[in-house]
Amino acid sequence: MAESFWQFAYLIAAVLIILSIKWLNSPATARRGVQAGQVGMLFAVIGTLLRHEIVSYEWIAGGLVLGSLIGAPLAYLMPMTALPQLTALSHAFGAFAAALVGTAEYYHKTPTGFVMGALVIETLLGYLTATASVMAFGKLQEIVPTRPMTYKGQNFVNLLLFAFAIVLAGWVIEGSAPAWAFPAFSGLSLLFGVLLILPIGGGDMPTVIALLNSYAGMAAAAMGFALNNKLLIIAGALNAASGFILSVIMCKAMNRSFTNVLFGAFGQVQQASASAASAKPVRSASAEDAASILAGSRKVIIVPGYGMAVAQAQHKIRELTDMLVKRGVDVQFAIHPVAGRMPGHMNVLLAEADISYERLKEMEEINSDFGEADVALVVGANDVVNPAARHDTASPIYGMPILDVDKAHTVMVIKRSMNPGFAGIDNELYYSDRTLMLFGDAKQFVSEIVKELPKAA
Ligand code: TAP
Repeated sequence: MAESFWQFAYLIAAVLIILSIKWLNSPATARRGVQAGQVGMLFAVIGTLLRHEIVSYEWIAGGLVLGSLIGAPLAYLMPMTALPQLTALSHAFGAFAAALVGTAEYYHKTPTGFVMGALVIETLLGYLTATASVMAFGKLQEIVPTRPMTYKGQNFVNLLLFAFAIVLAGWVIEGSAPAWAFPAFSGLSLLFGVLLILPIGGGDMPTVIALLNSYAGMAAAAMGFALNNKLLIIAGALNAASGFILSVIMCKAMNRSFTNVLFGAFGQVQQASASAASAKPVRSASAEDAASILAGSRKVIIVPGYGMAVAQAQHKIRELTDMLVKRGVDVQFAIHPVAGRMPGHMNVLLAEADISYERLKEMEEINSDFGEADVALVVGANDVVNPAARHDTASPIYGMPILDVDKAHTVMVIKRSMNPGFAGIDNELYYSDRTLMLFGDAKQFVSEIVKELPKAA
């Protein structure tokens, strides 16, 4: 009875996890996707607890309490802007668990052949993902220096170390390896995870985290093969594929290759060009000016960026949107796929402020509308609206698809200074005749516009 129940529970869990990923595809169904994933995991856990291989429930209960004591405060206390760090930490825990299960199985059962192969892959990916994820967390939290840490011959040294780990892995699988080989292989995997992240800049961590997500999924799938657990294989493979696809989408949206993200030490060279911030004149305006231009508009497109997240300006932007809509202005939001610092960053913040999904338009959908817009209001976005990406072949962002805000009748940019954004480069948009710079913190500036708007004719 219990046997058929856990199989049934696994089947339901697998279906719900697949549906969850499908629903997470669109903001409109994302909440349902999260709920389906949660219920799917519940079925997976209940099914597992009913399996006859369970020796003692005491240890499991202890693990549950310990996990909840760590997980619940993390989920409640970490702010929304720290979501990439939280994701990195949860990958670290998941991958470390997979590696420890692999290690325990190795010493407990010492399997052979295919199962040993799966176990070794699980351990390698588990340990390297665990330390790489901790490093990614450290860089995002700025505990570890965020700049790329490089030295001559670094890629070669890393490759050599990885090759050595693979040779040891092959030896362990073959079966004649001495006792030191497995711990040495595990140690090298842990070390490789650290070295892999050192040369990558903090800003690239979200892409790296998506890739680590994929590795953690592969470790889980390999664990499924090692333990002959089909649900782990399904969930792990889905995790691996979706993490990989996400990192490819992110690279494409930044017009960067995988190798450039992993080995390009991005964020180092560009810092130098940042200091060359241009001394050309710009036109700036006050909140009062901005309010009167907005009041006289028919169509306004708001372009949120990383600065909106830093300032937490989304609620004030909602207030502004409501006021403009009341005045009969058509207000839409243009969402660039890599605006902010993590996938869906802008969507999450705007949803938190209850801005209707219908107003949010993807880049391809809205780009042709800028020509008809009276105002493009750029709130803390920089690289994703830099026209240099279209024509300056020397620019590090050349080829990156951008939002065509420069086609709008008037462009208003809220930011604190002339400082560059993530790519560390100057933005020619700020010097255009159509552009008005609104200098200040995004939340504060939008609040001032909200105050001024009722006074505007
Ligand atoms: P950025 O180009 O990074 O520009 C953000 C701007 O916000 C800065 O120029 C900054 O100017 C301004 N800012 C910061 N704090 C502010 C505040 N409190 N109030 C007002 N403005 C503030 O942002 P973006 O346009 O969103 O582009 C994202 C960049 O990140 C792209 O280069 C992308 O490739 C990269 N990236 C994205 C992701 C994902 S998945 N989203 C992952 C990795 C990398 P001031 O300092 O002058 O205020």
